[in-house]
Order: sequence, then C-alpha cells, then structure tokens
Amino acid sequence: MRADKVIKGISQLASPIGAGPKHGSQMSELAITEQAAIAIADGRVVWAGREAAWQGEAHSTLDLGGRAVVPGLVDPHTHAIWAGSRLADFDARTSGVAYEDILARGGGIRSTIRATNTATTEELVALARPRIAALVASGATVIEVKSGYGFTPSEEIRMLEAIQALALATRARILPTLLIHVPPADREKRAPYLDQLRSELIPEVAHRGLATAVDIFVEREAWQADEAERVLQCALQHGLAIKMHAEQFHSVGGLETALRLGACSVDHLEASMPHQFALFSGSRTVATLLPGVSLHLGIACAPGRKLIDAGAAVAVGTDLNPGSSPLFSTASALGLAVRLNGLTMHEALVAGTANAAHALGLSDAGRIEAGLPADFAVLHGADWRELLYTMGANPVREVWIGGEKIHT
Ligand code: NIG
Ligand code: FE
Repeated sequence: MRADKVIKGISQLASPIGAGPKHGSQMSELAITEQAAIAIADGRVVWAGREAAWQGEAHSTLDLGGRAVVPGLVDPHTHAIWAGSRLADFDARTSGVAYEDILARGGGIRSTIRATNTATTEELVALARPRIAALVASGATVIEVKSGYGFTPSEEIRMLEAIQALALATRARILPTLLIHVPPADREKRAPYLDQLRSELIPEVAHRGLATAVDIFVEREAWQADEAERVLQCALQHGLAIKMHAEQFHSVGGLETALRLGACSVDHLEASMPHQFALFSGSRTVATLLPGVSLHLGIACAPGRKLIDAGAAVAVGTDLNPGSSPLFSTASALGLAVRLNGLTMHEALVAGTANAAHALGLSDAGRIEAGLPADFAVLHGADWRELLYTMGANPVREVWIGGEKIHT
C-alpha cells in the first residue's frame, strides 16, 4: 500500500468502531490501539492500526513521540454567530433573576436578536471566526452552526449567509441549521409569522441550500409542540433534516413529536421525564446533551446515564451561545458530560464523535477508519482520557483536517 503520509509514535489511538449511531451499551465499545500509526492518502485515512503492522510505503513519515490521538470531535449544536453581549443578563441572574424571566421581559435571546440585527454581515462573520477557531483548537473538526438570532425571514437568511461565509473561512466542516427560535412577543402575530416561515423562509432556505436542517425551540417561553410539528413537517417536505430544542426548562412535550417525525436529534432534555427515556431506544433520533447550559444556568443536568441505560444513542455538544452556554471548548463539553451527566469516559468520546456525527446526519465523521477523511486531534498527553480529564487548559496539541495539520 502507498500513502502520502504516515503518522507514527501514537501511544494510543482511540476511536469508535463501525458505521451507525451507537445505542446504549454500544457506547462503551471503543477501539483503543496502543503504539499505533495512521496512513493517509488524498486527505483520507487509508490504513490505521498497530505501528508494527504497517507494511506499506509512504512519501513522508511523522513521529508524534508517544501522544494519544482521537477522531476529530464533532460539535453538533452551536449558536456561534451572534453580536452583542449578555453580561448584564449574567449579572441579573447571579442576583437571582431567572433566565426565562429575563426572556419574558424582552431580554435574553430577544436582546441578542436586536444586537445581531444591527451588525453587518461582515461584522457577524468577524465575531464568529475566533469562536470557531477556539472550538477547532479544542479538537472539533465538524461544527454545526445555527441561525436563530435573526427573527425576521430576511434576517434569518442573512445569518445563514454569514454562516456560509464563515464556512469558507475555516478548514472545519460547518453544517448550517435554520433555527426557528422565539415567536413574536405579540400572541396575535404568532400564526401569521408561522405561516410566513412555512411559505417563504423554509422554501427559500431549501432552494438556496443555505441550511441542511431546521431546528425549533419548544418551551413555555417559545413554541408549542403543535406549532413545531407544522414547521418541521414543512422542513421535511422541502427535503431538510429536522432537529428540536426540547424539554430544556419544563417538560412541555415536543420530544415525542420530534421522534415521530424522524428528527436527527432532540437536544437539551434537562427536564425530560423517565417515561420518555426508552423512546430513544431503537430510534434513529440521537439525544444530544448540552452540559454547558446546566453549568452556566444552574439548571438540572440532562439524565445522560439514564438515557444510555434505556438504550438511547447520546451525543454531546457545547451549545456555544452568548446566553445559556458561553463554552468555547468542545473537549470541555465532553469532560462536563462525564462529570454532570454521568457518562463514562468511553461513552463521552463516542458521544462527541460518532454519535455527534449522526446527530447531524453524517456517517463519514467521528471515527478514524480507512476511507474516512483524515480528521483527528493529537493530545499533549499519552493517554486519550486526558481529553476529558483536563480542566482549564487545552488537552489538544494539534488538529488535523483532511490529512493536514491546521493552524487555528
Ligand atoms: O440552546 N434554548 C434556546 N436557545 C439557546 C439559548 C440561546 C440564548 O440564550 O441566546 C440554548 O440554550
Ligand atoms: Fe441551543
């Protein structure tokens, strides 16, 4: 076998095995190869295994000198494009005002919408670039980015255009999602707004290929399950994948609707109930946990352990956003899932790689395997578990995308 490059000196190569989302106990099945090597040609892995077993020839060889390698992380849930700041909200919250009360008074998400609407598209891209760079530096090679701070159809389109420009400015693979975030504050305007989303915004987004999925926030202060159903049905009719922010603060339902419609993922679940856990078993819908929100807002932690024990395929993301999760490290999100959601370290790595890829409808990311893009993270340490153990410093030394070491 001929390769362009061989990476040697890998103390441990840790990767999920085989295609498909990993449910329940499958989330513990990680392949850990000691003294490993990876051979790369044309940006893809052509061989991976024990270094001693490599028989081929390579144009160049790199020796990592005994460091652990994991697949490029997949961050399946971010709101990385926004303008303005929510420091005043944080001040209010730490003085006892609830996140939802701030939102109900026209602050929170609605204040970020106002700030985002007044920024130019170039400013939005410039603000987002270092955020994406931080996620990549923490090991992410695939990142989902949502709109949702635009509100009007034309502003949502502008946010998606900014995400398109952002995607061209990074080596990471960016997956754009149209987020139908909050409804008009005036109850009477809700139905006409929903009609406009279905007749204008979603068709235009699909037609122009501006998003691969449509997401909707179902919550007391946001949309109801029946409204979400109409939006998601419309998305499906236009060939878009669907997702849902569900059961974040209150168990208001919605999760069942998303599962019935075949959503790629249902995200948050902090307030989900025991009878809902088993619904994920055997379902293609991934349950995505966002522990940064529990840490930052001090709300309940999503029942990750119980979901996995009930047979769910669980993923983890940062939910990077200005209000509920200012978390700029995908690796840290995984470490928090171990500490706050009860995942084992094996499960957390699967949640942040193979399962996170499936939460985005991707089957060619999140594993180090012949035929897949050569996207991986090299750690400072020799043990892959450093990725999840380290707090406050970056455990990731190098990030490789398409077989090239990138500069973040
Ligand atoms: O995932 N839940 C709604 N949306 C975001 C929060 C966005 C914000 O606070 O700006 C979330 O938590
Ligand atoms: Fe979110």
